Amino acid sequence: MTADFDPLVPETFDSPNAVYADLRGRCPVAHSDAWGGFWALMKHEDVAAAAADWQTFLTSRQNVIPKVAFTGRRPPLHLDPPEHTPYRRALSPLFSEARIARLEPVIRNICRDLLPPLVAQGACDIVSDFSAPMPIAAFAHWMNLPPDAVAELTRVGRLYNIAVQSNDMDATRENSLFLYDMARNIVAERRERPLPVEEDAASALLAARMNGEPLPEELIIGTIRQVLVVGIIAPSVTIGAMVVHLCRDQALQSQLRADRSLLPAAVDELLRLYTPYRGFARTAVCDVTIRGRTIPADEPIALVYASANRDADVFEDPDSFRLDRPNMKDSLAFGRGPHMCVGASMGRLELRVALDELLSAAPGFELAGEPVQTRFPEIGALSVPIRFTGATR
Ligand code: HEM
Repeated sequence: MTADFDPLVPETFDSPNAVYADLRGRCPVAHSDAWGGFWALMKHEDVAAAAADWQTFLTSRQNVIPKVAFTGRRPPLHLDPPEHTPYRRALSPLFSEARIARLEPVIRNICRDLLPPLVAQGACDIVSDFSAPMPIAAFAHWMNLPPDAVAELTRVGRLYNIAVQSNDMDATRENSLFLYDMARNIVAERRERPLPVEEDAASALLAARMNGEPLPEELIIGTIRQVLVVGIIAPSVTIGAMVVHLCRDQALQSQLRADRSLLPAAVDELLRLYTPYRGFARTAVCDVTIRGRTIPADEPIALVYASANRDADVFEDPDSFRLDRPNMKDSLAFGRGPHMCVGASMGRLELRVALDELLSAAPGFELAGEPVQTRFPEIGALSVPIRFTGATR
């Protein structure tokens, strides 16, 4: 099998988008030899169709590229319907508009604790100093974790992320297992002292029933472990990428600072431009032919959401930021089909409040060095050195 691209070549912050634009034109159903070989769907139409067709494209075999499987199954991402359904049903109400709206002041306070010292020192890495810890603290609040668990999750979440980013399999395994232990402790605590199911994920999962039976304990623990990681990495790398964009486009930064009512639309458009995932995967149950190329059954296929969202067949002038896109509903930033992000409302809130508070924290900010790109399965910013400009408030 020929290799159409190599995801392991060193990247800059912008280089993956150029590679994906080239592949969309030249080889939209691409193959790579990396990590044991995988396929990659680059076009919006193909990614959306595969994400929606869960009967043909399973997630239960391999849900990310590269495969990281040290532990047991982690619903909802690792299960196909109908096994997937009760986990989704238990989690969904916890992301309702009303429940998430209550998080807004909490997230504002987290931002207001983190940002002023950074502004006072004049410069920072907006990812490691702000966009990495903020979603962890927000998530811990959503999970009803006690304060000492927040500190622990911040520490281990950071170590896990560094281990994944540096391809250190031993450290990834060690920290992944530690996160599993945290999930196990949370579930044991809620079994002893349940919280109202409409307020607490672990309590809701413990109360859920499938065919009249409780969900298996190991899968409840797996679900909590899954949410512990997916809920904290995407907002972090996306906020970093959004900040890069606003540093490069000072006119947009000023426009948004002056008119915050533009933020919800700006967040959706920035999410389209900086969709944080390229490695969520499916495996076809039979040979599938897409654009004349046959992908054999049982081979992993990446849904390159980040590429799909810059497809000129769907988004006019796709690399440009536009506040008035008529078809933002076509954005695949949160996926499609049964696995579409259950935490989208919380993700959007975190991004909007983070930008809002950052715009308020200082009259300006600009890049103070080269931003660093993340690795598969994410795409976004791992590090963004910035300096604050103008007088601080
Ligand atoms: C910038 C913010 C976020 C983005 C862009 C994002 C994106 C995504 C995408 C694209 C998927 C689909 C995966 C697939 O197709 O295989 C997904 C799934 C998921 N996300 Fe998010 N996410 C974000 C934030 C969050 C947050 C804050 C949480 C929870 C606290 C969360 C929890 C989940 C879960 C549990 C799934 C699996 C859903 C399932 O399999 O049914 N996400 N996310």
